[in-house]
Amino acid sequence: MATWKVGEEHIIEITGLTHEALGVGRVDGRVVFVPETIPGDQIKTRLVHLKERLGYGELVDILSPSVDRRSPSCPHAKNCGGCQLQHMDYQGQLSWKREQVVDAMRRIGKLDVEVLPVLGMDEPYHYRNKAQLPLGTRQSELVMGFFQKGSHDIVDLQTCEIQHPLITKLALALKRIVPDLGIEPYDEVNHTGVLRHAVIRASFSEETLMLVLVTRTRNLPAQEQLITGLAQEVPELISIAHNVNPRVTNVILGSETKIIWGEPYLMDSIGHLRCAISPGSFFQVNPSQTKVLYDLVRVGMELKGTETILDLYCGAGTIGLYLASEAREVIGVETFVGAVEDARHNAKLNGISGAQFHVGKAEELLPSLVQRHKRIDGVIVDPPRKGCDRSLLETLVTTRVPRICYVSCNPSTLARDLSYLADQGYKVGAIQPVDMFPWTRHVEAVVLVSRANP
Ligand SMILES: C[S@@+](CC[C@H](N)C(=O)[O-])C[C@H]1O[C@@H](n2cnc3c(N)ncnc32)[C@H](O)[C@@H]1O
Repeated sequence: MATWKVGEEHIIEITGLTHEALGVGRVDGRVVFVPETIPGDQIKTRLVHLKERLGYGELVDILSPSVDRRSPSCPHAKNCGGCQLQHMDYQGQLSWKREQVVDAMRRIGKLDVEVLPVLGMDEPYHYRNKAQLPLGTRQSELVMGFFQKGSHDIVDLQTCEIQHPLITKLALALKRIVPDLGIEPYDEVNHTGVLRHAVIRASFSEETLMLVLVTRTRNLPAQEQLITGLAQEVPELISIAHNVNPRVTNVILGSETKIIWGEPYLMDSIGHLRCAISPGSFFQVNPSQTKVLYDLVRVGMELKGTETILDLYCGAGTIGLYLASEAREVIGVETFVGAVEDARHNAKLNGISGAQFHVGKAEELLPSLVQRHKRIDGVIVDPPRKGCDRSLLETLVTTRVPRICYVSCNPSTLARDLSYLADQGYKVGAIQPVDMFPWTRHVEAVVLVSRANP
């Protein structure tokens, strides 16, 4: 192979896109990853980082654009780490997301399974109900927004196409008021300063906002003036909480949160389900697509009202609660105690008596749950990116659970887990991807798995 050097420029065709949304091309047979490119682009790239068999390039020029390429409509697109696919049109994104699932099923799962077209959004903008915005200082000015791709430099937010417009309105008001009150932004390098993050949540059904101010210090300076200023500028704001996070950490919230003004909860809905969202709650960030996702689960479970259903990795219990009226009993399991408290609260709020929630690891609690309940008619699993624990799948198999509805945010671990279930005599249904996060690289999918011989 010819030697290659950093700084060399090459003309290449982009033929693939990694799951991190880096374009893939080849230079003399070696793979090169180039950000901001998509399949079908013919580009000039400059090599910036090389290993023996692969390298990274930067985009110098687009010589011939892909049919899926578009000009990003967001002014922050080049730097902001929030979206990765601003340069790809929406239909192109949906096709690529489907391909991600197809590829994982073939390559990792060795499964020949149908993957349906991705269910996208008609209007893929302003869908997010939550933003976590770091604050900092640049050239003595307050900056607040999103971290840049691959760094902790803050992209100063002026606008955002994916979050609810009220979130941007509140963020910009905060950015105006905080310097006037002399509240110091956090300095991540020296671990000094006060205000670390603004976590803003919007209710789509009520058009209201909750703000969580995260400080390094126990004291929030000029608290009363800040509350008055924000409430005046943003009448949609109904709740402000103060969270203290004194640690040197990338984790946003510390352990102490108290409401300092307004309501204890933000109220929102997923279809018929009312949800009270507290400052630290886990809540799906795209409410309209969450309903699409949950309806797929509901239809897939084919409930008649007599079933006992497990909702494993249940977060705030919203999937189980969403279909509780169609089952006899729903049992949720989740490790995060705060989410389980929310689940119990939301069960009461919706008048649901046939739901119970347990705190713990699903793989550890499952054996005693199946023993206690004798008949489990169906199980919903919605694990984090690392997928289901193998011992959990083993318990489902040995219990001969007839129906498993798998909700996944990672096609690779989904493929691994489906492959195991298929080997153990389960039939894997068609996989339905749902686009929960337009303009980003994330892919969500639902699939029904049932015992071949019940
Ligand atoms: C993708 S989220 C689930 C979301 C929820 N089903 C919903 O629709 O809002 C995954 C959840 O699994 C929880 N979790 C992670 N590991 C777990 C485990 N071993 N057992 C139970 N829950 C776990 C996380 O705290 C998180 O709430």
